[in-house]
Amino acid sequence: MSSAQLYDTIGTTYTVTRRTEPRIASRVWAALGDARTVVNVGAGTGSYEPPDREVTAVEPSAVMRAQRPAGAAPCVIATAESLPFEDQSFDAAMAFSTLHHWQDPIAGLREMRRVARRVVVFTIDIGWRHRFWLTRDYLPEVADLLAGRPSLTELTGAIGARAEPVPIPWDCVDGFFEAYWRRPAAYLDDQVRRGMSVWPRIGPSAEQRAMRSLRDDLASGRWAERNRDLVALEEAELGLRLLVA
Ligand SMILES: C[S@@+](CC[C@H](N)C(=O)[O-])C[C@H]1O[C@@H](n2cnc3c(N)ncnc32)[C@H](O)[C@@H]1O
Repeated sequence: MSSAQLYDTIGTTYTVTRRTEPRIASRVWAALGDARTVVNVGAGTGSYEPPDREVTAVEPSAVMRAQRPAGAAPCVIATAESLPFEDQSFDAAMAFSTLHHWQDPIAGLREMRRVARRVVVFTIDIGWRHRFWLTRDYLPEVADLLAGRPSLTELTGAIGARAEPVPIPWDCVDGFFEAYWRRPAAYLDDQVRRGMSVWPRIGPSAEQRAMRSLRDDLASGRWAERNRDLVALEEAELGLRLLVA
């Protein structure tokens, strides 16, 4: 199943938990610099689209496009790997929390580079996945999902980008996979997990096992003991990066 098809299946409840986190948005918008025209690749429902610039969205999933609010930027049906625009058509190209879904992330980044003079991408350094407690202690299956995916060095190297760490606030309002790092009980909520693509990709038996195990560890105090360094933090470094080229 392609990622666009995946979102046509799982995307129906996306906006229940997924929305713009203002502290992260301000990082993205600052990185866009003085860009007046912006293409937002893998735009989904329109989170993180800057309100004060001329935005063109690109989104392959019909279910995601249908949830874009009235008055949102115009949306083109396409994928990152083959952007239907002339060279240097935009001042900037942005992509948020989508690159891990692209069939060929390097080709997608090169396309962004081709169509814009500035590129800003929020993504995960896959080298960090095993360090986040949820994957480390409950979901070893995530390693299989990442096999063969490009490293951060390969991603930055493809477009000559720098990678800036983006710490995640403890009360992050965009419910992506790492968002609830200090609110572990949130992961037990079906609705919270429905906003994250990892769960359908690892399948129901791993999901149920992970949730049973997390529930037990929360009840016994084992989670708190293992993660006592985290509970006093206001924000955490979890491998999220802003690539800027
Ligand atoms: C987690 S959502 C992120 C949506 C939005 N950027 C946000 O921050 O809410 C991932 C999006 O990437 C889209 N997507 C999947 N494969 C893609 C591809 N090859 N090119 C562009 N977008 C893709 C999906 O359809 C989905 O809307």
